[in-house]
Amino acid sequence: MKTIFVTGGAGYIGTHTTVQLLEAGYEVIILDNLSNSRQEAIQRIEILTGKTVTLYVGDIRDQELLDEIFSTHSIHAVVHFAGLKAVGESVSQPLHYYDNNVAGTLVLLRMMDQYGIKRIVFSSSATVYGIPTTSPVDESFPLSATNPYGRTKLMIEEMLRDLYTADPSWSIAILRYFNPIGAHDSGTIGEDPFDVPNNLMPYITQVAAGRLKELQVFGDDYPTHDGTGVRDYIHVVDLALGHLKALEYVGNHVGVEAFNLGTGKGYSVLDLLQTFQQESGQTIPYQITGKRDGDVAAIFADPQKSKAILGWEVRHDIEAMCRDAWRWQSNNPKGYSE
Ligand code: NAD
Ligand code: UFG
Repeated sequence: MKTIFVTGGAGYIGTHTTVQLLEAGYEVIILDNLSNSRQEAIQRIEILTGKTVTLYVGDIRDQELLDEIFSTHSIHAVVHFAGLKAVGESVSQPLHYYDNNVAGTLVLLRMMDQYGIKRIVFSSSATVYGIPTTSPVDESFPLSATNPYGRTKLMIEEMLRDLYTADPSWSIAILRYFNPIGAHDSGTIGEDPFDVPNNLMPYITQVAAGRLKELQVFGDDYPTHDGTGVRDYIHVVDLALGHLKALEYVGNHVGVEAFNLGTGKGYSVLDLLQTFQQESGQTIPYQITGKRDGDVAAIFADPQKSKAILGWEVRHDIEAMCRDAWRWQSNNPKGYSE
């Protein structure tokens, strides 16, 4: 049985990926400092899968702890989710973001190198495509960043490329996520932001659950079919399954490769809102407000490379994403804290 070390495994994407890893027969060790997640998520994973997870509550910047973990367990590969992800917060606290995300990854990579663990799957983001003027975007699109969060992803990508250049025995998959939404169809794990959500889907579900009053739609005069922003929403379970494909890939190849994880389809804010209302039976009050700084009009993925090389394809449509997001939120109106 192969052991996968999952950093940030208690978080939204980490919990969903851990469930898929356990179901596929991997052993999972999680390191998470619980800065944006709750330990209860791990218990839910264990109940859902009937399997146990080894959890270390701690920080990826803690070299002594990594030393302990790497010397105790025989690790096949690392899936590296741990990071801070709020764009606005990264603008007001850039040093915190560079320290947590970039310096944290540096400590992790150095320790992996020391222990000869040279397979990693890294959570990057479509944010590294900056402000594209056309979509779909493929992996060869020029990279740029518009905020400190995006720059941490870009810097880590560059670190990984430099690492492979210096030592071609590394196997590195960089996964560029588009917009993960939805939840496991059991309704027992899902997205549970600590603060008022920044992202569209958790905001909508919290309005539906009565925790927030109304949605603000950021702008309706973008050059899109209805004037609202267009994104490539992807079911979090499809995203999780992409990590299993990427793990197989790094198990069989050396190199450094970036892969888009998106559906290739774009939906506007109003499309998503309407589909959510239809699938949940809830009415979501909203008002159109000003544009949010830094938002792009439209971005969606070209997922052909992931399909061709990883053999990965999405299975869930936008309706399933909305149903599953609502099942999670309606079963857990206050998230894990209940
Ligand atoms: P999340 O906040 O739910 O999960 C991240 C987890 O990492 C949390 O459990 C947090 O407690 C933990 N963590 C943060 N810093 C840590 C540290 N220094 N040491 C140990 N643990 C730490 O976020 P998510 O949505 O699951 O995102 C996972 C990864 O995917 C992140 O790197 C994020 O930047 C990236 N990503 C997310 C999205 C998205 O829309 N959700 C899009 C693109 C990329
Ligand atoms: N939106 C609203 N109201 C809200 C929240 C969002 O109208 O309350 C709109 C945005 O303007 C955008 C769309 O909904 O048009 C999606 O916004 P999200 O915040 O859900 O997602 P983004 O595409 O802006 O950002 C996400 C991640 C970032 C990542 C980026 C690119 O949150 O971390 O995708 O991958 F960098």
